[in-house]
Amino acid sequence: MMRQVKTLGLLGTGVIGGGWAARALHFGIDVLAADVKPEMEAWIRGAVENAEGALSRLTFAPLPRKGTLSFTTDLHAMAAQVDFIQENIPEQLELKQRVLADVSRHAAPDVVIASSTSGLMPSELQRDMQAPERFLVAHPFNPVYLLPLVELVGGLKTSSAALDAAARFYTIIGMHPLRVRREIPGHLTDRLQEALWREILHLVNDGVATTGELDESIIYGPGLRWAAMGTNLIYHLAGGETGMRHMLRQFGPCLKWPWTKLEAPELTEELIDRMVEGTQEQAAGRSIRQIERLRDDYLVAIQQVLRQFNIGAGATLRTLEDRLYEQNASSARGGGRAAAPGIQRMYTQVRPEWVDYNGHMTDSRYLQVFGDATDAVFRSVGVDDDFRRSGRALYTVESHMTHGAEAKALEPVYVLTRLLAVDDKRVHLFHELHRTRDDALVATGEQIYLHVDSTAGKATPMDAALRGRFAKMHAAQAGLPPPAQKGRYVGMPRV
Ligand SMILES: NC(=O)c1ccc[n+]([C@@H]2O[C@H](COP(=O)([O-])OP(=O)(O)OC[C@H]3O[C@@H](n4cnc5c(N)ncnc54)[C@H](O)[C@@H]3O)[C@@H](O)[C@H]2O)c1
Repeated sequence: MMRQVKTLGLLGTGVIGGGWAARALHFGIDVLAADVKPEMEAWIRGAVENAEGALSRLTFAPLPRKGTLSFTTDLHAMAAQVDFIQENIPEQLELKQRVLADVSRHAAPDVVIASSTSGLMPSELQRDMQAPERFLVAHPFNPVYLLPLVELVGGLKTSSAALDAAARFYTIIGMHPLRVRREIPGHLTDRLQEALWREILHLVNDGVATTGELDESIIYGPGLRWAAMGTNLIYHLAGGETGMRHMLRQFGPCLKWPWTKLEAPELTEELIDRMVEGTQEQAAGRSIRQIERLRDDYLVAIQQVLRQFNIGAGATLRTLEDRLYEQNASSARGGGRAAAPGIQRMYTQVRPEWVDYNGHMTDSRYLQVFGDATDAVFRSVGVDDDFRRSGRALYTVESHMTHGAEAKALEPVYVLTRLLAVDDKRVHLFHELHRTRDDALVATGEQIYLHVDSTAGKATPMDAALRGRFAKMHAAQAGLPPPAQKGRYVGMPRV
């Protein structure tokens, strides 16, 4: 049996180590980071801070308390204290073999050790380790804090228990573990990426296209398709009604023509210059940090769109959110996260795209935030996907908002939600949106929901169990004074 992971140990804290740290901390795991260079402490703290902006906008679901980050240059001390080790040192076989073997002697045998290697084989990496059965390759993608993919590859000595434990851990921190059936150099994704990369180098080397033109050839076309369907399912569609079979018949003969050159070209100084100059032109004076921020923002937005379709990375996000809501609901049932008896608290942040020309949160987004807060309350009493699949739903029939203060882009805010009343068919909620920095009341939202039979499209009484859970929540708030804004209507004088 492998351990439950409370503390993640990082071996090497460069680009990838920093990404692992940000992701794990965000999802409530403590991180003990170890690097041979003491100056990497400041670096990894900066990397975590940088990641936080985009990461905190990824999901509204209630997150556990953030983990804490510690740093050491003592690799042995790190190995002795943590529940799971992720190795991210430079891509050199002998160095990795030596460090992994050394660290494995200081970590208990039930501590999984995973390597982020982009292309080395697990059987070679685990060769000199103590308890090599707990070792695997877990290859992530940059930025690790936003991309859910992690390729899991076992070596000859890897146990299935270690692979299972690793998959569980990566799922907890919001990832999509992809099990690679057989170890091969470069695993799966880098094999594909490198094939494309070799062609790019040839096309630039032969003067056929610039780096910018080649990027255009992806971003306006295939890149948009790949994010949700990959290459194979998209080619299945290219074959028309008969799908892949027709596609292969039609385009199969082209495979015999030498369209592509799989051997990489010589990396001459001239080719290097062309690649560097081309990408500098594309960067158009923007720093790496600026481009990273743009990349992070669209990676968040894309995942939210995919979430609506429950496809690809969006499906991973939904699964993660379902679990977070469920955890929150069970702790709320035990009184864990309630702000006051029965009051639900939801933390979030004003996303940059929610802000209008004044620099403040735009009207429609208030309703979105209150909708998410309602969702959290409903889930806490069991109104979830299963409930909806059973043909029942709670429909919004009335909403009223008041606005009191401003919330700017990236401000942390929180919503307090009360249940003002409940009867057999109706649920009456009241939300307060506060700024976290000074607790100022930014807006209120009052809403009535109707319990319906969604197949018949008619209001219908709730079942006794749901009614009972709402009643219990209501009773917990019975002693609180009614909110001043309750029952206000548009145009009514201020009280
Ligand atoms: N950069 C990527 O896009 C990417 C993506 C996926 C996987 N990877 C893999 O992740 C690993 C790390 O790559 P990176 O880009 O983060 O490299 P990096 O050079 O940014 O970081 C490596 C870190 O390891 C530290 N280090 C060196 N020797 C050490 C030792 N003996 N003990 C502890 N720390 C040591 C260095 O000080 C440095 O901080 C590589 O195996 C790479 O293949 C990289």
